[in-house]
Amino acid sequence: PPSQRLVVAVDGPSGSGKSSVSRAIARRLGAAYLDTGAMYRAVAWHCRDQGVLDDPDAVVAAVQDMDVVLSVDPDHERVVVGTEDITEAIREPGISAVVSVVATNRAVRELLVARQRAEIDAHRKIVAEGRDITTVVAPDADARILLTASAEARTARRAAQLGGTVEAKDLAEQVSGRDAKDSTVVDFMSPSDGVGLVDSTELDFEATIEAMLAEITRQQSNR
Ligand code: DC
Repeated sequence: PPSQRLVVAVDGPSGSGKSSVSRAIARRLGAAYLDTGAMYRAVAWHCRDQGVLDDPDAVVAAVQDMDVVLSVDPDHERVVVGTEDITEAIREPGISAVVSVVATNRAVRELLVARQRAEIDAHRKIVAEGRDITTVVAPDADARILLTASAEARTARRAAQLGGTVEAKDLAEQVSGRDAKDSTVVDFMSPSDGVGLVDSTELDFEATIEAMLAEITRQQSNR
């Protein structure tokens, strides 16, 4: 009989829509939702708070001691470090600007990957989303998808999210600049073996969700 366990791994560049799409998929599947980007953002916030961002060894030590709680309820986004709720703070442009400092630290990645694997193992059904989930964190997931979109579409979505507060040209540079920095440590621009590709350039939100669910079903029936 088919096992009831379901692990879905989703990777993609910023602005591909993977966070909102993954969250919606988790709701429909009755699954938990793990936003691994929020973990990297929480680490960046904590290291900035501790004033250690420019010292790689101190960054690693800070992550080891860090008391972080991340909600995996898709209807309730919550990130708490110590006693401080940083759910909103980690989305600020100041964090986006420095998060690559921690995301490109290999020792930090190892620590976070271990936490992410433990979280995935703790749930019967879970959708985990990030940059290295299909390849490093959960290469044996039941379904693995790379969600992409053209650079133009990704910039336009980020602009819509930010509500027109940033110049289009600056935004295009920010989005592609961060992806370029991040892809020096993990390749999330092309699908690795066995990973399904969903291109959302021409799809609206609902159509993207449908395409993802169809891909999940297809991979499950091929197992
Ligand atoms: O998806 P996001 O924009 O919230 O991700 C924040 C940062 O963390 C981004 O710079 C990429 C990095 N990241 C990563 O390196 N590996 C992951 N699994 C998730 C995010």
